[in-house]
Formats: sequence, structure tokens, C-alpha cells
Amino acid sequence: MSQPTNRVFSGVQPTGNLHLGNYLGAIRKFVALQASHECIYCVVDLHAITQPTAVWGGPAELARNTREVTAAFLASGIDPGRHIVFNQSQVIEHAELAWIFNCVARMGWLNRMTQFKEKAGKDRENASVGLFAYPTLMAADILLYRATHVPVGEDQKQHLELTRDIAQKFNNDFAERIAELGHGEAYFPLTEPVIEGPATRVMSLRDGSKKMSKSDASDLSRINLTDSADEIARKIRKAKTDPEPLPGTVAGLAGRPEAENLIGIYAALADLDREAVIARYAGQPFSVFKPALADLAVEKLAPINAEMRRLLEDPAEVDAVLADGAERARAIARETMRQVRQIIGFLGA
Ligand code: AMP
Ligand code: TRP
Repeated sequence: MSQPTNRVFSGVQPTGNLHLGNYLGAIRKFVALQASHECIYCVVDLHAITQPTAVWGGPAELARNTREVTAAFLASGIDPGRHIVFNQSQVIEHAELAWIFNCVARMGWLNRMTQFKEKAGKDRENASVGLFAYPTLMAADILLYRATHVPVGEDQKQHLELTRDIAQKFNNDFAERIAELGHGEAYFPLTEPVIEGPATRVMSLRDGSKKMSKSDASDLSRINLTDSADEIARKIRKAKTDPEPLPGTVAGLAGRPEAENLIGIYAALADLDREAVIARYAGQPFSVFKPALADLAVEKLAPINAEMRRLLEDPAEVDAVLADGAERARAIARETMRQVRQIIGFLGA
């Protein structure tokens, strides 16, 4: 069977507080790629449970957050009829391929993962084994569909490099068998990350040196996709800045992380590059720029917010999308796993 050449896969964890960084760094790109690629978008609930229960909130929260991420996908313009939208745990092949990849990936590779170090914190002895193995599950998500392109924010770059390493080692370890079974030189593709544009790393509104994050204790640090127009405007008004007016060039943003972040957000929301935004606001004080940014953010996010609310009032519609997507994803996943079992030499495949 020939490999797909333009298949996109990406995932978002259902861990609550979906924010502007998720939208600009990931979801908006998911929407754009639909025109040119066959896309598979996944709510990665198996990844969510790698954190302590208190972080993902337990069964009721997990279900609510899974529907919320799905609603954000649909409200942002992902078309579940032409593409595939589902939650990971409905396609159990993800866990099966992750096990095989646990036996391909090396301890040394995983020991280098910075996200594990950040999330485990000081008490590493107490982190779940799943949190350590998180990147092998992520590689399985992508390679189960032999996806060629993965749109993500900058923070996922290292995990995508690991995914390529896993694909390459599997292809090498089983090269003879892969050729023998008629798959050519490589079974898994070396997936390309899609990390581009002015908002691949949206920073906290309270501290320009910290990433905007779902888990920041301060709600003022992020714009949630469920925030009302008033909340969005208030958070932008209160965003930390320095006292200088905006510079005349992008180079003038150096050493001014808060200004740089707000310009990047404006550029991404307006579909402009940063140069064009700077040209428009050169020399202006934040008292002029912030209200313009707030208006733009409300204009772009209010329709998404309204549609998310509508969808969340009727979970049956969202659940039906996930069930249908899971069935279509499963058909692809089953075939991959049948071939992987054959390649490895498991009897009965
Ligand atoms: P997560 O919420 O960790 O599942 O992330 C979902 C997607 O959003 C991933 O592609 C992340 O890289 C992206 N993302 C998360 N936080 C940010 C941020 N602050 N800026 C840009 N992209 C982000
Ligand atoms: N690790 C990603 C994040 O935290 C989520 C994710 C899981 C993912 N599986 C994926 C992203 C596969 C892209 C492709 O943001």
C-alpha cells in the first residue's frame, strides 16, 4: 500500500482553559491546512491522564473538556465531514503502537525531553510512567496514520524530532522485512513539523518571559476561548507592558518581550506579518494600541465563542462527530497495525 503524501495529524489535550495560544499556535493552522491536505484532528484524552488527577480534573471534567476542545475545533471552522475529528481513547490502536514505540525509543532519547522535566518538576520520583512515555504515544498518534505534516506550537518541536527518530529507527531495524512485504524502503514517513507565522509561541499577558499556558494560576495571564468580549478587553487592558511607545521597526522590539508578544498576537489575528503591524502603529503609545488589539481580538474570537457555547449546550451533536470520526480513524489505524504486526513478526497478523 502506498504512503499518503499530504496527510496532516495534530492533537490538543482536553485539560481545560483552551486559550489564545492554542488557537493561534495550533487550531487556526488546522483550519487553514484543510484546503490542501487530508486532515485528522484528535482530542488526545490518553495524553491528558499522564498528569495527576487533580490537574485534569477527574471523569466529569475530562468529558466536559473533551467536548470543549471538539467544540473549539468545529467553531473555528474544522469540517468533520471532509476531515476526521475524534478523541484518542476511542481508537485503541494508539495505545498499541505506543507500546511498540516504547520498545523502539531509547531511554536516553526520552531523558532529554524538556517538557517532561518541566511537567515533572522537582518531584520526578512521583511523576507517572505515562508522563515519561508521553512522547512515544505522541509519535504513535502521528505515525498510526503515517501523517506527513504536523501543525503545532513551538513547544512541541522536540517531540516531533523524537517522532522522526522513532520512525527512522523502526524503518532501519525492520528494513529487510519492510522491503520483503512490499512497502519499499521505509514504512513510516519522516514527518515534517508545521511551525510558522508570528504566533508559534504566545506568551503570558502578565509576564512576557513565560508561555501562555492552561495551567497558569492567574486567569489574567491568558485569553480563554470561552471568555466574553468584556473579559477579553479587560485582560488586554491589564496586560503588562513597558512605558515606551511602540518602535518603528521589528528590530526595535528586541528586549521588549511584552511589546513583542502583543504585536505578534495582533499580526496573527489580522493575518499580517509583524512588519505590517509595526508600520501601522510605529511611535504609538500602548493606550492607542491596546484598544485596537482588544477590538480585533473580540472581532475574531466572539463568533468562535458564540458557536462553542451553542455546541456545548447540545453535547449529542459533538458526541456524534467524535463517534463518526473515531470510526473513520479506526479503519486507517487497524490497517496500519495489521501491517506493523506483520513487519515485527507477531503471529496471526
Ligand atoms: P496542549 O494544550 O498542550 O495540548 O497544546 C495544544 C497545541 O497548542 C499544541 O500544538 C501546542 O504547541 C499549542 N500551544 C500551546 N500553548 C501555546 C502557546 N502559548 N503559544 C503557541 N502555541 C501553543
Ligand atoms: N503533545 C501535544 C501538546 O501537548 C499534543 C499532542 C498529542 C499532539 N499527540 C499529538 C500534537 C500528535 C501533534 C501531534 O500540545
